[in-house]
Amino acid sequence: ALLSGNAMAEKDWPSKSITLVVPFAAGGPTDTVARLIAVPMGQALGQTVVVENVNGAGGTIASTKVARAAPDGYTIYLHHMGMATANALYDKLPYDPMTSFEYIGQVADVPMVLLGKKDLPPNNFKELEAYIKANGSKITMANAGPGAVSQLCGLLFQSRMGVKLTNIPYKGTGPALTDLLGGQVDLLCDQTTQTIPYIKDGRVKAYGTTTMKRLPAIANVPTLDEQGLKGFEVKVWHGMYTPKGVPKPILDKLNAALKKSLNSPDVKKRLEDANIDIVSPDKMTPNGLKTHLEAEVNKWGPIIRKANIPD
Ligand code: MLT
Repeated sequence: ALLSGNAMAEKDWPSKSITLVVPFAAGGPTDTVARLIAVPMGQALGQTVVVENVNGAGGTIASTKVARAAPDGYTIYLHHMGMATANALYDKLPYDPMTSFEYIGQVADVPMVLLGKKDLPPNNFKELEAYIKANGSKITMANAGPGAVSQLCGLLFQSRMGVKLTNIPYKGTGPALTDLLGGQVDLLCDQTTQTIPYIKDGRVKAYGTTTMKRLPAIANVPTLDEQGLKGFEVKVWHGMYTPKGVPKPILDKLNAALKKSLNSPDVKKRLEDANIDIVSPDKMTPNGLKTHLEAEVNKWGPIIRKANIPD
């Protein structure tokens, strides 16, 4: 039988390189995970997967761009839990996480650590509490804008401490970490993707993890929970998306390629070293991602509105 133009395009997909949009700056945690999986995904699909960093507004510029892109399978998207939090942080976004995208699968869960610049006087969380009480808004805290997990972590932290620090937005925590290392900013809550070597050799101070259990790679760093911020948990889950309307056969191929790349020994090892958990197979599915996203939209909306700290 003769195939129509669309069916032909589906059958031949992918016949050119695929763009993987990343909503934050190059060199940061989302970019690093994306570049890591882009290579084996490209190998599985027989085409190059090219990463494009679309920075700004806490990831919402990239989400808008992807929502409006052609649903031909040549634009795919890696985003973290900011997909679920942004709607509670912005008055009106031109996309809806539950209706503007197709879902390929969940990817990985990344822990966070509250970091300070090397020369910040407090040496532990207790001292940091006193330092914050004494200095308040003189203290600067970096983030990657509303919708970024660094901003969410900072928002929850300031809300729990009952203080408003001076929040400084960046286009990603890659550049924010550079400034923390250079001593231009005091605090940053960042993912472990890049930060473990800097914590280990003392180039940054680590005041606590956002996990309920200590992290094996930095077992000497206490959790924020055990230091008095009970229940302070931010686990940065990631998902892969396409614009709404990509045909199912293409989504199936993308899902198979994602699964294959997450099972590659190189990817596993690199993620494991950063204490990043690859998700279980049932979450690595369109429905696994959609169900989780919906639960997270419902979970974070009320928490964010209650925390109510500007920036
Ligand atoms: C990044 O890749 O820069 C981060 O994921 C930004 C953030 O959400 O904090």
